[in-house]
Amino acid sequence: MLSKHCEHVVLAYSGGLDTSVAIPWIKEHYGARVTALLVNVGQEGELGDALERARFNGADQALAVDAREEFAESYLFPAIQANALYQGVYPLSTALARPLIVSRLVSVAREVGADAVAHGCTGKGNDQVRFDVGVKTLSNELAIIAPVREWNMNRPDEMEYARQHGLKIHVKPDSPYSIDENLWGRSVEGGLLEDPGRSAPEEVFDWTHHPQEWPNEPQDVTLGFSQGNPISIDGVRQTPVELIRSLNALAGRHGIGRIDHVEDRVVGIKSRETYECPAALTLIPAHKALEALVLPRDLQTVKVGLEQRFGELVYGGFWFSQLREAIGAFVESTQASVTGEVTVRLHQGSARVVARKSPFSLLAPELATYGRGSTFPEGAAEGFIHLYGLSTALAYAHKPTVESTPAREAPRAPPAVPQTT
Ligand code: ARG
Repeated sequence: MLSKHCEHVVLAYSGGLDTSVAIPWIKEHYGARVTALLVNVGQEGELGDALERARFNGADQALAVDAREEFAESYLFPAIQANALYQGVYPLSTALARPLIVSRLVSVAREVGADAVAHGCTGKGNDQVRFDVGVKTLSNELAIIAPVREWNMNRPDEMEYARQHGLKIHVKPDSPYSIDENLWGRSVEGGLLEDPGRSAPEEVFDWTHHPQEWPNEPQDVTLGFSQGNPISIDGVRQTPVELIRSLNALAGRHGIGRIDHVEDRVVGIKSRETYECPAALTLIPAHKALEALVLPRDLQTVKVGLEQRFGELVYGGFWFSQLREAIGAFVESTQASVTGEVTVRLHQGSARVVARKSPFSLLAPELATYGRGSTFPEGAAEGFIHLYGLSTALAYAHKPTVESTPAREAPRAPPAVPQTT
């Protein structure tokens, strides 16, 4: 096990069981100093207590950095602009935080002169991939220690290790779930959820209210966007962090943001995942609706294809890749006109766009109206449609018949050209 000797390790510390146990384990197995680094990306809970526990459990140093603003502005806003949803459903809440945690980990490691970094990811998940690829991309000098992947302990073993070493831990002993939380969402895996044939028990949800508490009355909320970024709720400007937090609370009350699906992980397995992402599942549909109003059709089509790739890159740990950056730059370049207001109706678990407006709207009422005063050149429609459908009609007329008899029927005449008026 002692494959590498390290002097000083900076551990990405969450305050949970895995990374709490990792502190004495790293000291024992690597003989290294341990700096526990808690990166605040908007997870709930008392960070001060978590730092205190890290020190109690043997960390030589325990630090917290507040990365919420950077997370919102430099990771979540680009994801909103890209309507980023992995496999069409998951807003990448856990995935988006990883590269930010990695960049803080690497910079603190350099500041304190550490020769290694450590994380608490298992050997089956996506997070190990995101951490390792990120660290290897940003630094070539730091070794990576992954205690949970290396030590072969399960949850009960970890609890036992904590008991034997007299560690202070902060977990419900009977909770079988693995939970990850940040500003953009909450991921819950494990326990009963592992059977995709069973519905998720109500106890896994925390940010979204119980269906019996969902208000009977719908609530309309108007989201203001400027160049693709959300800036206000009901006309009140908010900072990025505040806006996301208040929308999580607002939409969560109506039960919006629950996601339950079977996801394809990087390492090739499928797994049942549940998430709660109230703000993300309100903002992304609103942003898409505004784009539908202001972006030209061809631009939207190309953008949708790249959005899918963007989501896959983020999911797969390639935030720092040139391709992700280039797609991000393309996406940003499309957002100049994505300014305006979108009204979303929150009701009984769903967020539905009911109105949108923008000074850059491409919807020309004089062309689209069915009422009086339309300026649409309807006389041009017939000739347009004739040419528009011509290649399909031609190919259909010349389609070979299935049975290959030598006397092949002569093709029908192509459709007649209408007389122009
Ligand atoms: N499946 C999600 C992802 O890969 C969530 C991972 C949640 N992580 C956790 N430690 N519970 O992004």
